[in-house]
Amino acid sequence: MKSASSQRAGKEIQSEIERLRREIREHDHRYYVLADPVISDFDYDQLMRKLTELESQHPEFITPDSPTQRVGGEPTKEFRQIRHPVPMLSLANTYNEEELRDFDKRVRNLLGDEEYNYVSELKFDGVALRLVYENGLLALAATRGDGEAGDDITANVRTIRSVPLKLALGRGETRYRNIEVRGEVLMNREGFQKMNREREENGEKTFANPRNATAGTLKLQDPKEVARRPLRFFSYYLISDESDVDSQWGSLQLLKKFGLPVSDHAKRCKDIGQVVETARYWETERDNLPFEIDGNVVKVDKLSQQRRLGAVAKSPRWAIAYKFAARQANTTLKDITVQVGRIGTITPVAELESVYLAGSTISRATLHNEDYIKEKDIRIGDTVIVEKSGDVIPAVVGYIPAKRPSGAKAYKFPHRCPSCGEPITRLEGEAAYYCENYECPSQVRGRIEHFASRRAMDIEGMGESVVDQLVSLGLLRSVADIYGLDSHRDELEALERWGKKSVDNLLKAVDRSRSRPFGKLLYGLGIRHVGERTAQLLAEHFGSMQKLMDSSEDELQFVSDIGPTIAESIYRYFQDKRTRELVGRLRAAGLQFDEAASLKKGKLSGKTFVITGTLSAFGRDEAKELIENLGGKTTDSVSKKTDFVVVGENPGSKYGKAQKLKITILNEVEFLKLIEKNK
Ligand code: IVH
Repeated sequence: MKSASSQRAGKEIQSEIERLRREIREHDHRYYVLADPVISDFDYDQLMRKLTELESQHPEFITPDSPTQRVGGEPTKEFRQIRHPVPMLSLANTYNEEELRDFDKRVRNLLGDEEYNYVSELKFDGVALRLVYENGLLALAATRGDGEAGDDITANVRTIRSVPLKLALGRGETRYRNIEVRGEVLMNREGFQKMNREREENGEKTFANPRNATAGTLKLQDPKEVARRPLRFFSYYLISDESDVDSQWGSLQLLKKFGLPVSDHAKRCKDIGQVVETARYWETERDNLPFEIDGNVVKVDKLSQQRRLGAVAKSPRWAIAYKFAARQANTTLKDITVQVGRIGTITPVAELESVYLAGSTISRATLHNEDYIKEKDIRIGDTVIVEKSGDVIPAVVGYIPAKRPSGAKAYKFPHRCPSCGEPITRLEGEAAYYCENYECPSQVRGRIEHFASRRAMDIEGMGESVVDQLVSLGLLRSVADIYGLDSHRDELEALERWGKKSVDNLLKAVDRSRSRPFGKLLYGLGIRHVGERTAQLLAEHFGSMQKLMDSSEDELQFVSDIGPTIAESIYRYFQDKRTRELVGRLRAAGLQFDEAASLKKGKLSGKTFVITGTLSAFGRDEAKELIENLGGKTTDSVSKKTDFVVVGENPGSKYGKAQKLKITILNEVEFLKLIEKNK
């Protein structure tokens, strides 16, 4: 028999334990759901430590909803299957405004004259989850599976700190003790990248995107490992028999009140016009969210109207997904080929079953290098994930293991250059193979294309296909041959798709390029590691081709931003006999070998410009080019040496700095005048 006093002591300890749990829950909610913590990590750890200690002294008081019990249980072998009493439906998709308006028409027809409005939510690009709360406690978490039944992943989901183990039910809210919540598990981009970096360092396979990482994590059989992964949760659907809310909007507010994470970006829309507007907004703003979304979900707000609209097949008639143009797609990898770049870099290329991706159809994507293919274990025949982000070329980022055909073999990287047949080599510490044959046809074409390109010698009309044609005919073997093309005028005019006029134009463009500034010429030579900026720095520092060619590696390193690798590459380039011969021929062709000479021509020579804000008549690059063509210089920061600051709309801090330093400020009109005058 326990004495009365020890019973009292037990009660006190129990209430202390409960007090600690409430406090920790509150801090968890503030930290993981509201992102608004009020205590330091240290103080939080102290609370946790105290609770853990009390619980280990009094295991009889441990309850499953205690914050110490998120990670529990031993690794399992298999997940239990769970039937969903209310099926987990999927949504029909729309891809444009018209389809959204069609959805609205269907809703209007079905609801007759009644008024209705919408809630537009983010479509989280994660993994759907069903949570069951019993008596206010998290009792079950299940995946969607086929919609009718899924996996019991409760042990894993308990480790997600933004999922409350116990609902924060207020007085008078006890009727919500037994509810079901649906939502999405996902990872922030940042957490995903960090995790991938760590995996890479540990030699583990990386995940293609946050969604795959989330799905992979939820399938783990060891909750301890799941607890280490940066999963988070958003709820978007409440099922309750006792609820007295009558709208989706109201449900979201309730979920929030109960301590469940709800996105702040849900929006009430009075009509489809506002829905469309919201969709447009998110299509451009999606990258400013910390996690991935792939569209919006549009829901008729009133629950009574939702019930009347009902569902067809597997999707409700009261909701629809508006999907943004995908930046990732799945398709079959038909073959792997290799491409030879202008400096001989060998790049493996994925030959794909054509697929529509972010506004265009693609059938090729980069596979980066041999190690990348090995590391990602990508094989021909796989269903691969291709990604296009921003301006970059599409890339294969992974494959789908479940869809791998049996017998898919690992890819063997070739030993010879596919263009010239010479053996290829891989330098130590580098990921890429190189073809070192200077005469390799692919390299010759690449060098000429680069030389003629807009940012280099800007020879209009000498694009990829023309270069291809002229190289195949043997008319061009080196960039220097470009300046001998006029002696082949008749041959050119006789070519298919060519005539007198087009040949004339091409030769004129070639002629004009002779006066391109020295810096552009240097860039056009395509020296390894020498981009536009470095080329310009070299031109300014050495002033002439001769001085540059005569400089040692040490002297090269005197140029700002040029380190040993770049210096070595430039030095080696100019020591090469072939370079010397090429330079001799270019000199004879009358190209600009002198920085001062290229500058003198312009009326703005010696003047330094900074541009800030948006100009209406042209892009910033164009404005820079105009200035440079007139011999002026542009830099990115305002200093005492700046002569003019051109100010467009919404200028940055450079404007203020220019005023402070009393530098001449030009608005766009004044800038245009200055340029006109000096042309
Ligand atoms: S509501 C009956 N709301 O999109 C309606 N779903 O194809 C059930 N999703 O499986 C879904 N964000 O995984 C809803 N705000 C959101 C959502 C959302 C993402 C997912 C969910 C569902 C899929 C629909």
